[in-house]
Amino acid sequence: MTEVTNTALTVRAGAAGDVEEVLAFWSDAAEGTDRRDSADAVRGLIERDPEALLIAELDGRIVGTVIAGWDGWRCHLYRLAVDPAHRRKGIARVLLEVAEKRFAEYGGIRADAMVLDDNTLAHHAWTAAGYVRQPQWGRWVKPLQ
Ligand SMILES: CC(C)(COP(=O)(O)OP(=O)(O)OC[C@H]1O[C@@H](n2cnc3c(N)ncnc32)[C@H](O)[C@@H]1OP(=O)(O)O)[C@@H](O)C(=O)NCCC(=O)NCCS
Repeated sequence: MTEVTNTALTVRAGAAGDVEEVLAFWSDAAEGTDRRDSADAVRGLIERDPEALLIAELDGRIVGTVIAGWDGWRCHLYRLAVDPAHRRKGIARVLLEVAEKRFAEYGGIRADAMVLDDNTLAHHAWTAAGYVRQPQWGRWVKPLQ
């Protein structure tokens, strides 16, 4: 696992012991979280791919996350979130750099993220990191449960 330290900021992979803190962090910091988030679901993610959940820490506290999902074919980013008290310090930028490095190690050629059309705060961060909205695609969904 790649560990990156930028001043006091550390990015590491999340482990089972982080699950409750991550859920609490998402309820404060993330946008559009799935109401079916659960400790079991996050544990399942970590068991399936121990390097997917990236956690940024400052002084031992979670200040940012992103899920860097590599499924063997594509590179998908979820749950980019930064503590409101620590925004505009480059934490999202560092998290995305670590995620992209992970994807590159697997040979991924393109990363993507689902971003709400009215989440202009996120648009700034994704644009700054080099991501571009593709207007020709839409999201097609079907609930499975
Ligand atoms: C979007 C989010 C993750 C950005 O995190 P962040 O750590 O504040 O972002 P960074 O400090 O790394 O910003 C990187 C660049 O993005 C742009 N940016 C980020 N926030 C911005 C804002 N509020 N206004 C304008 N530009 C912004 C800037 O270019 C910035 O670089 P700069 O500060 O050197 O100018 C954070 O605002 C957040 O958690 N929002 C709520 C959750 C969310 O919407 N997540 C995205 C889901 S798709």
